[in-house]
Amino acid sequence: MPHKPLVFSGIQPTGNLHLGNYLGAIRNWIGLQAQHECMFCVVDLHALTGDFLDPALLNTATRRVAAAYIASGIDPAKSIIFNQSQVPAHAELAWIFNCVARVGWLNRMTQFKDKAGKDRERASAGLYVYPNLMAADVLLYKATHVPVGEDQKQHLELMRDIAQKFNNDYGVPEFFPLPEPLIMGPATRVMSLRDGTAKMSKSDPSETSRILLSDPPERIVEKIRKARTDPAPLPDSVEGLAGRAEADNLVAIYAALSGETKATVVARYAGALFSRFKEDLGERLVSVLAPIRAEMLRLEDDPSHINRILAEGSARARARAAPVLQDVFDIVGFVKAER
Ligand code: AMP
Ligand code: TRP
Repeated sequence: MPHKPLVFSGIQPTGNLHLGNYLGAIRNWIGLQAQHECMFCVVDLHALTGDFLDPALLNTATRRVAAAYIASGIDPAKSIIFNQSQVPAHAELAWIFNCVARVGWLNRMTQFKDKAGKDRERASAGLYVYPNLMAADVLLYKATHVPVGEDQKQHLELMRDIAQKFNNDYGVPEFFPLPEPLIMGPATRVMSLRDGTAKMSKSDPSETSRILLSDPPERIVEKIRKARTDPAPLPDSVEGLAGRAEADNLVAIYAALSGETKATVVARYAGALFSRFKEDLGERLVSVLAPIRAEMLRLEDDPSHINRILAEGSARARARAAPVLQDVFDIVGFVKAER
């Protein structure tokens, strides 16, 4: 029984969205809507796995992530936009997956090691089982395709292992699909503007390391102008970017924005100084991000509108989740309490 294609992805409402979230994830979602059914989640349960998060911040960030989805072109009439906490079945299936996934599997997760840092004893238990909840997000709907940035690849492999083990253990071949990661475009791993070897991230202490979707145009231009580069001009081939992490990153960002390959971009700018390239890159960024920012501001002005979209999306998600969770309960042998 082949599974019907369904796209699922999500972002944590833990801070302001940046260019990495946009180019690695959201931007790739837009096009998928035309051909596939899609669900885009604001993963507020996942947001609790890090350091203590101010409830007011979580509240605003949840609406802001939803606003970013819509402002970027996710159509709430077509795709389901919702926040995870409003569909209790995510947490219920995650518990079952806590009992399917092996401790040895979780111990291999590099994101846990990165996020927990040196003092692993102090990490939340939630951070440890984070990938099981992520597997539940996707498998609860039997979603088949998961568009994410490069950093999520390992979590997707674990998700497939969980699906496979559940199917095998319970003798229900093909009950869960084995979801495919969709890691698309030339900017699947956008790097920090301050350090070409570190990922652009919400948690980097330096604000100039990332471009925010909420940055005004002049701030974007300034951050790009100040972005670290080496003193050499642009090379005339992609091979010439080897060992030049910062240069490579800026070219990848440009290529993702213009819809070209890195090869086309370096061919055009061969021998040019970075000062000139950065001017063009800043302009391109502003032309893509300024309209998104304007629309985000407009949407955030009307929180009840976003609340309604999330409420409607959650209702649609709950309706889809219920029969799958019931099947899982039956498969594992829970007695249904009914009179
Ligand atoms: P997060 O901010 O960790 O919730 O990530 C949300 C989505 O953005 C995931 O699909 C990530 O893979 C993607 N993402 C986060 N940071 C980057 C980055 N620096 N480059 C590319 N994709 C990213
Ligand atoms: N772990 C993802 C991240 O940090 C966020 C996420 C949670 C997700 N659940 C998901 C992504 C389900 C795709 C599908 O980027």
